[in-house]
Amino acid sequence: MHAGHFARRISHDGRSGSSLPGVAEILMGVTGGIAAYKSLDVLRILQRHGHGVSVVMTHTAERFVGSASFAALSGREVGTHLFGDSEQPGYHHLDVNDGKDLMLVAPASANTISQMASGSATSLLTSCYLAFRGPVVVAPAMNTSMWLHPATARNINMLRADGVHLVDPESGLLADGAVGPGRLAEPTAIVDAVEAVLAGGSAGRDLAGTTVLISAGGTREPIDAVRYVGNRSSGRMGWALAAAARDRGADVVVVQANVDLPREAGIRYVDAPTAAAMRDACRAEFPGCDMLIMCAAVADYRPIDAASGKLDKSRADALTVQMERTTDILAELSALREDQVLVGFAAEHGPEGLERARGKRQRKSVDIVVHNDAAVEGAAFEGADNIITIIGPGESEQALPRMSKRQCAERILDAATPLVEALPSGA
Ligand code: C5P
Repeated sequence: MHAGHFARRISHDGRSGSSLPGVAEILMGVTGGIAAYKSLDVLRILQRHGHGVSVVMTHTAERFVGSASFAALSGREVGTHLFGDSEQPGYHHLDVNDGKDLMLVAPASANTISQMASGSATSLLTSCYLAFRGPVVVAPAMNTSMWLHPATARNINMLRADGVHLVDPESGLLADGAVGPGRLAEPTAIVDAVEAVLAGGSAGRDLAGTTVLISAGGTREPIDAVRYVGNRSSGRMGWALAAAARDRGADVVVVQANVDLPREAGIRYVDAPTAAAMRDACRAEFPGCDMLIMCAAVADYRPIDAASGKLDKSRADALTVQMERTTDILAELSALREDQVLVGFAAEHGPEGLERARGKRQRKSVDIVVHNDAAVEGAAFEGADNIITIIGPGESEQALPRMSKRQCAERILDAATPLVEALPSGA
């Protein structure tokens, strides 16, 4: 996106932030973490795009990168103290609304995120956050355990509910040697997010006014009262799609089977643990949706007669479970579809899988099929990343490199959203 496309935000007193057309005044908060050095890159890119940047830092951030570096690059005084003194004149947090278009916090530590979520104002940075009336973009960075902790998930949900724009961390090698989610998003991705928000959110909210139905997780088909036939789907891909669609402005309904992940604000969840329950829930929700993304791993077979009690193993050395086919929900809904966009998944095993996925798209008559190879380590179930090929719409086919499930979700929505916009209803 070009800086010249920015819709100007007029501040509460009627003055726009920057006096130049097309550029913004940004207040950038930097918190403590090894990723703080990457904020220098973020600052540099923002400046290259013509934006003015003023920096406030927490005391912990100063232990990683000196304020002098930010002062030298921004050409402005850096705020670090809540109360100025003769050494450090301070940046008055009540000045934040004076001509600032957007506040960015990158990297945002678990601690600062928690303070922001609870409305505590013990640092200059969090005081600025509370006093600021414009849009806020937050790019978290922390180790995987902290990122996955339920307290952090809760705080992130609160920030989202408060209207903060999140730039989700990436998965990869972290400073502590662990591999997992928590690494600060790339500086270019952070700047893209900032500019999408500055642009009035039109580019970022291309699904506004639409309803997206997503199935997620893996069904479990009972053998008896305690045993089931299931699969390894974690629900992460469906969760990532739901968050991405919500952030792009859609009303999102997730029909979920056995997903043990934190639920997010702004998404409606319907529980459907078996193939039959998922079919019922999808059929009930389908008429109200503009786009269906069938991401769940739905059982193809289920035991014909599940025992009502627990099967007694002392009665026989071998057990034969008779299975019957389940209904293919996607194919069934495809036959019922009106002005709706349909996206299916195909988790295939091995090199011929791509061809099978192409065939599935034709057979089930859906717009897009997302293929992933379940035989490749980290390419389908359970992991934070995926390696996908987006088959369709039309003749197009995109084989993408390994990337986080959130990034995959964005690419899938990039492919599917123009189809929704082209629906006769103009959804
Ligand atoms: O044919 P296959 O099961 O591989 O197709 C996968 C796609 O079909 C996925 O989108 C999955 O969610 C969907 N599916 C379905 N109902 C089933 C089995 C799979 O909707 N019973």
